[in-house]
Amino acid sequence: MSTKKILLTGGAGYIASHTAVEFIQQGYEVVLIDDFSKSDRTLLNGLEKITNTKIRFFEGDCRDEKFLDELFDREKITSVIHFAAYKSVNESVREPLLYYDNNLGSITTLLKSMKKFDVHEFIFSSSCTVYGQPDVIQVDESAPFKKAESPYGATKQMCERVLEDVTLANKNLKVISLRYFNPVGAHPSALIGEVPLGVPNNLVPYVTQTAIGLRQKLTAFGSDYNTPDGSCIRDFIHVVDLAQAHVMAAEKISQMPTNNEAFNLGTGDGVTVLELVRKFIEITGVKLNFEVAPRREGDIEKVYANPAKAKKLLGWQTKLSLEESLRDAWRWEQHLAANKK
Ligand code: UD1
Repeated sequence: MSTKKILLTGGAGYIASHTAVEFIQQGYEVVLIDDFSKSDRTLLNGLEKITNTKIRFFEGDCRDEKFLDELFDREKITSVIHFAAYKSVNESVREPLLYYDNNLGSITTLLKSMKKFDVHEFIFSSSCTVYGQPDVIQVDESAPFKKAESPYGATKQMCERVLEDVTLANKNLKVISLRYFNPVGAHPSALIGEVPLGVPNNLVPYVTQTAIGLRQKLTAFGSDYNTPDGSCIRDFIHVVDLAQAHVMAAEKISQMPTNNEAFNLGTGDGVTVLELVRKFIEITGVKLNFEVAPRREGDIEKVYANPAKAKKLLGWQTKLSLEESLRDAWRWEQHLAANKK
């Protein structure tokens, strides 16, 4: 049993729920909070089934300082992993204030409350979106931030800036930002996975929803990019691999070279959108109705991770393949469909 007690904000969400499984299975005590603004109890129920434990969960908003103060006072948290954030690129363009208010308000309120209760380990869910379209396609953490493509991307950059400033001012605070590439897949138990709100924006949920018959047709955006098949290149990482990186970050946070470090979390392999679609068809044997269409506005042509720093300093690397990601995503979609009937 670890002596650390971990708070996961946004605990009912996709990545947090998978991360909670890994922490619990490694013997950590975890506390989850969520305001259910973009989630519900579905994944918490799955999480309890997988781990065969009763989850310590509290409903509340990360911008509610009183809620957080009471929580830190009562729960004796040692480390925080901050997942809670809005993440739709499209919605952020339509409703930028929602994104600035929620994504910046929650991180600053959390950090204020942590300071009061002397909690000094903070792991942040960042994104490869902070790089914009990098000059070096296999990007490492030293790449400069280009202008963000969306308000969502800007909030991730701004949060990292907040963390830079607070760690300069407070040497006791230890921060790790984890820059996720494209998280996909689901827990192999098919008891937790991604639950998109409305029509999915992201590729893999759109693929699986089309395959199950919820959507008529998948549209693959762009055929004239400067890539081998003309579609965009991304680094698709299995959510369970991603989850395990958080455990390693929590274990190693006090041994980092500085008190504010960032890590790329990706496989290191770039895959095109069309390769992924073809692989899905090959693995599942499902006939997928898809068409190639013009580019989607705001998409970056190609980016994938150089994950060497995470391997060196966290001892982490991905273990699961794209095939496993797609198989697990498909199992989860089938589980959702079976439970709707
Ligand atoms: C975006 C964000 C990322 C964020 C993620 C989660 C950027 C650069 N990236 O990733 O930071 O964490 O969303 O919301 O802002 N595609 C199709 N058809 C579809 C859906 C997607 O062809 O129906 C294509 C896209 O054009 C893109 C690729 O699939 O080329 C991946 O798209 P998506 O899954 O939305 O992720 P990103 O845009 O890479």
